[in-house]
Amino acid sequence: MAFPRLLALGILSIGLSASRVQVPEFPELQAYKSANPPAAFSFTNQTIIYAPVNNQTLGYPRVTELSDGSLLVASTLSGDYPAFFPICKSVDDGVTWNWLSNVGLAGNDTTGDDPGDESPIGLGAQPHLLQLKQAIGQFPAGAILATGNRMGMESTNIDLYASKDAGKSWQFVTTIAQGGPPTTDGVIAYYSDSRDENHAQKLSHQTSDNLIDWADPVDDVAYPKYEDRPGMTVVAYIPPLAKYMLVYEHGNGTRSKGGNNYPDSYKLAADPLLFNAAPALAIEAKDGLNKTIEPGSAPYVTWSPVGGVNGTIIVTDANHKKLFINRKGGAVEGWETRDIPQPHAYARALHVLSKYPDHLMVIGAGPFRPKQGDKTPLSVSLLNITALVESSQ
Ligand SMILES: *[C@@H]1O[C@H](CO)[C@@H](O)[C@H](O)[C@H]1NC(C)=O
Ligand SMILES: *[C@@H]1O[C@H](CO)[C@@H](O)[C@H](O)[C@H]1NC(C)=O
Ligand SMILES: *[C@@H]1O[C@H](CO)[C@@H](O)[C@H](O)[C@H]1NC(C)=O
Ligand SMILES: *[C@@H]1O[C@H](CO)[C@@H](O)[C@H](O)[C@H]1NC(C)=O
Ligand SMILES: *[C@@H]1O[C@H](CO)[C@@H](O)[C@H](O)[C@H]1NC(C)=O
Ligand SMILES: *[C@@H]1O[C@H](CO)[C@@H](O)[C@H](O)[C@H]1NC(C)=O
Ligand SMILES: *[C@@H]1O[C@H](CO)[C@@H](O)[C@H](O)[C@H]1NC(C)=O
Repeated sequence: MAFPRLLALGILSIGLSASRVQVPEFPELQAYKSANPPAAFSFTNQTIIYAPVNNQTLGYPRVTELSDGSLLVASTLSGDYPAFFPICKSVDDGVTWNWLSNVGLAGNDTTGDDPGDESPIGLGAQPHLLQLKQAIGQFPAGAILATGNRMGMESTNIDLYASKDAGKSWQFVTTIAQGGPPTTDGVIAYYSDSRDENHAQKLSHQTSDNLIDWADPVDDVAYPKYEDRPGMTVVAYIPPLAKYMLVYEHGNGTRSKGGNNYPDSYKLAADPLLFNAAPALAIEAKDGLNKTIEPGSAPYVTWSPVGGVNGTIIVTDANHKKLFINRKGGAVEGWETRDIPQPHAYARALHVLSKYPDHLMVIGAGPFRPKQGDKTPLSVSLLNITALVESSQ
C-alpha cells in the first residue's frame, strides 16, 4: 500500500503508555478445534473459526496477513456490552484457528495521567485490521492497527487501536473521525461520510503520517444527487495495472439493471488518494442463463496473479454466494461469476495468501442485522483459484 508523501512531522510529545487496562479473556469464545484438522496449505470448505454461544451473533469479518505469514481475523460480536471485536489467529494458512485477544476493551487513556479514562470504551461495528510495513510516528514497523466504528446514541466514531505485541493486547490511539463507518489502508483511512449536507452519504478518506493527527477529509465518491448513498469502501492494489481498485455499494443507485437498490460499483486510479476524479464503473456479469447479474451491498475486492496476464480481480458481495471475477484488467465487459461452497453472508472478506497466491480465503459470518438467536458461525473456505477460474460460471 502506498505511503502518502505528506509533510514529515517532528517527534510527537504525547507518550503512549502500554495499555494498563487488563483485556478480559472471554471464556465463552472458544475457537473451534477439529478432531482431524486438514494439513496446512490445504483447501478447505467452511471451516468454523468459532460459533456463537448464548445470545451472541457474529458478522462483518475482516482478515489480515502478518509479515510472518500468520493470519488474524476480526469480526463483530453482538450480545455483550460494551461490544468488542474478538481476534482469532491462524498459523497454518487458515486451516485451524485460535482466539487471540479482544479489541475495544482498553480505556482511551493514551497519556496514562487520567485514571477516569480507563474504563472500556467498546467497539461495535465495521472492523478492519492492518499491519504497518514501516514505522509511522511512534508506532514501529510490525505494529498492528485495528479500526472500527463505535456507535453511540449521540455520535458514531472511527476509533483507532494499535497492538505492539502481535495482536495480543491493544491500546486506544485516537478517534480519527466522528460521523460514519471506516476502513483503513496504510495510513489512509477510507470511510462513509454522512456529515456533508449536500450528500445523504459520500465516501471520504483522511491521511496521517503519525496515526494521531489526521488531515482533513477528501472525497472519493460523491454523487450529485443527494439521495445517492455510496458506502463501504474497500481498496485493493492490482499490480499488472499499477492501479488501485476501490469497490463500494451505491445506495439508491440509479444505474442498477437488476432492481438492486445497492448495486456494487468500482473505480480504478493510479493514486489511492485521487479516486474522486476516476469514473464510477458498474459490475455486471451474465449468469448461466445469460441473465444480467450484479453484486449488491457490502463488496470486498482482492487480486490474485493466477488466471492470465492480468491475474484475476475477485469481488464478493452480500447478496450472492457466487464470486464475481475479472481477468481482463478490470475492463467493464470482463466480469464473470463463479460458484463457490462458502455460504453467502453480509460483508464477506477475501484474502489471497501471499505464500500461496492460488489460495483464496473467503470468510463469512452472519447476515445484515442478525436476529437474536442467529447462530451463523464465523467460517472460512480456502479455495483453489486455478480451479475456480477454470470452472464454468
Ligand atoms: C462444502 O460443505 C457443504 C456443507 O457441509 C456441503 O454441502 C458441500 O457439498 C461442500 N462443498 C464442497 C465443494 O466440498
Ligand atoms: C446477552 O447475554 C448476557 C449474558 O447472558 C447478558 O449479560 C446480556 O445482557 C445479553 N445481551 C442482550 C442484548 O440480550
Ligand atoms: C476519553 O473518554 C472520555 C469519556 O468519554 C472523554 O471525555 C475523553 O475526551 C476521551 N479521551 C480521548 C483521548 O478520546
Ligand atoms: C432513495 O431515495 C428516496 C428519496 O428520493 C428515499 O425515499 C428512499 O428511501 C431511498 N432509498 C434508499 C434505498 O436509500
Ligand atoms: C446472451 O445475450 C446476448 C445479448 O444480451 C446475446 O448477444 C448472446 O448471444 C447471448 N448468449 C447466449 C449464449 O445466449
Ligand atoms: C490486461 O489489462 C490491460 C489494462 O486494462 C488491457 O489493456 C489488456 O487488454 C488486458 N489483457 C487481457 C488479456 O485481458
Ligand atoms: C488447483 O486446481 C488445478 C486445476 O484443477 C489443479 O491442476 C491443481 O493441482 C490444484 N492445486 C492444488 C494445490 O491442489
